[in-house]
Amino acid sequence: MNPLQPNSLPPSYFDNLYQADPDPWKFETSEYEANKYAATIAALPKLRYRSAFEIGGSIGVLTEKLADRCESLLSIDVSQIAQNRAIERCRHLPQVEFQMMRVPEQFPDRNFDMILVSEVGYYWSLDDLRTAQQQILNALESGGHLLLVHWTLYAKDYPLSGDEVHEAFLELSPVHLRHLYGRREEQYRLDLFERV
Ligand SMILES: C[S@@+](CC[C@H](N)C(=O)[O-])C[C@H]1O[C@@H](n2cnc3c(N)ncnc32)[C@H](O)[C@@H]1O
Repeated sequence: MNPLQPNSLPPSYFDNLYQADPDPWKFETSEYEANKYAATIAALPKLRYRSAFEIGGSIGVLTEKLADRCESLLSIDVSQIAQNRAIERCRHLPQVEFQMMRVPEQFPDRNFDMILVSEVGYYWSLDDLRTAQQQILNALESGGHLLLVHWTLYAKDYPLSGDEVHEAFLELSPVHLRHLYGRREEQYRLDLFERV
């Protein structure tokens, strides 16, 4: 936990980033991101998901790749600036639905067979992470997959580290989640769970 940043980062933090640079993390061009996205998609055990949920879809680069594996995909974000670009990018993908939503204050009222939490968990406070974990458990069908991917280096602005996010989900195993796969690279880690 970061004592200098005890609260979840607000939507304005992200809008400011996207206003200054439409692709602040270089999702469209970075080789690191391209390799990480390939590892993310490759980690999904099922070829097709009936109903998937992506938290923090940003400008939609990963959304577009994920959509290939989904009959329906709900992608949410707190930044309208980012989501407008995602909507534009995924215009040819009718199975993708976009909503503006801030988790855990808001959460979709439906069930999913796959939930993706990629590079977003460390923006939550510990309390909000705990609430989001419970919401995810409630919404994930038995046998459904939860995929976590987070950068593991230090960021002074972030309430939590990538490792703290993954460790919090590992604590839910084996009672609520079965840990199927874990991978740690130099700058990120990936963990795959199945809902018990
Ligand atoms: C670093 S980007 C990750 C994008 C994408 N998931 C990926 O892995 O490439 C994080 C995104 O999460 C969004 N976000 C931050 N806090 C959020 C929250 N509480 N609920 C939903 N989205 C959030 C931000 O606006 C931002 O677009």
